[in-house]
Amino acid sequence: MTKPWAGRFAQATTTSVEAFTESISYDSRLYAYDIQGSIAHAGMLGEVGLMTKAEVRKVISGLKSVKKDFENGKIELDQSFEDIHMFVEHLLTEKIGSLGKKLHTARSRNDQVATDVRLWMKDVARGLEDDLLKLQKSLLQKAKEYETWIMPSFTHLQHAQPTGVAHYLLAFIEKFARDISRLQDCVKRMDEMPLGSCALTGTILPIDRSITCKALGFKRPTRNSLDTVSDRDFLIEFAASLSLIATHISNFCEDMVIWCSAEYNYISIDDGYCTGSSIMPQKKNPDVHELLRGKTARVHGALYSLLTLMKGLPQAYNRDMQEDKERIFDSFDTVSASVNILTEVVKHTHFNKQRLEDSCRKGFMEATALAEYLVLNGVYFRDAHHIVGTIVKLAEDQNCALVDLELSAMRNISDAIKDDVYNVLTCENILGMIKSFGGTGKASIKNNLKYWSRKL
Ligand code: ARG
Repeated sequence: MTKPWAGRFAQATTTSVEAFTESISYDSRLYAYDIQGSIAHAGMLGEVGLMTKAEVRKVISGLKSVKKDFENGKIELDQSFEDIHMFVEHLLTEKIGSLGKKLHTARSRNDQVATDVRLWMKDVARGLEDDLLKLQKSLLQKAKEYETWIMPSFTHLQHAQPTGVAHYLLAFIEKFARDISRLQDCVKRMDEMPLGSCALTGTILPIDRSITCKALGFKRPTRNSLDTVSDRDFLIEFAASLSLIATHISNFCEDMVIWCSAEYNYISIDDGYCTGSSIMPQKKNPDVHELLRGKTARVHGALYSLLTLMKGLPQAYNRDMQEDKERIFDSFDTVSASVNILTEVVKHTHFNKQRLEDSCRKGFMEATALAEYLVLNGVYFRDAHHIVGTIVKLAEDQNCALVDLELSAMRNISDAIKDDVYNVLTCENILGMIKSFGGTGKASIKNNLKYWSRKL
């Protein structure tokens, strides 16, 4: 086919260059946004008198019928058209004749691609917010189910202090809430309409960008055409938001992988959500969780690719920028699939009450509460810390838990210890005693459950 730019070329593009430079194999997924942008653009050309009303009607109905053909799978992609923008224009011209050639008036693929990608991002970011909400709901459901269950908390993967299963699950609801607000935040900032920036400086034609802006549902037209065609900040912000979602999913899955091992046995995952080994008959592996953790790598990779892609570019649009799409599409697809499968997996994950309680009796997790008990009895915290360290050592030597120590043995170490000390020596009691806002105390958990039940 003759290229739209063929006027100044003495030779046709070689097929190897066509194959190397094409983007239609992946940007075709933008067809609906491209057509949406073109319909708005044609409408504007009509309003300002660059097309007659009859021409606009013909162009728009042609574009709608091209869209239908895409939807009905009637379109076979042709890489000689390079990208979706030129392909749609070609399909339109095939349908309505040479009038199709008017559509590109006061437009460049540079502002067109910027518009398409923004429309896509606004759309999918909203969808992802909904998916994250569903994930939060499945976590909340579990948190309610386990409202009163206790479990160890960990720092450095060592037993730390007692906490609640619900408190653990609620922690991830918070993380995903920030992820949602981050998505909303970057959509808010990118909600500006690029069309009319043309190649990079605007046009001498009498366009009205406020018309296309309104038609496409953006807040305002972008203010600087040079910035507009060179800007991919919004994709980088999106990639960064996706990277944090993937990080949170990965953190959660890492815990689950550890906790479903025989050594921990804190959780079990339904058979339908695990896979087996081709050689070891006894194996039931948390492969979904491992893959969710593993897929984080490509999501983070996309962020780094985009940053590196953009950092060396001279002014305005450069063809390098075509590389943005595969990265961001893959990142979005990966995170979207991850959120959805995790939502299912959470519903099929069961915590093991007995094991969690048994595990709470290990690791002297009452030690910090004991130190705080001493503070309440007038001991300075640093001294209390030292005293409890000595008591822990004693229990370790006697191979028993803190609660099993004789009162007299503890009083030998500090006479600030009274016979009510045993109140702080069981994890269940400690959870009842923690009153600090946002802490792991029973009341705080109840409040947070109420808060999220109202919000979600
Ligand atoms: N396919 C290109 C991209 O994805 C848009 C086309 C702009 N090309 C050009 N030669 N100005 O970025």
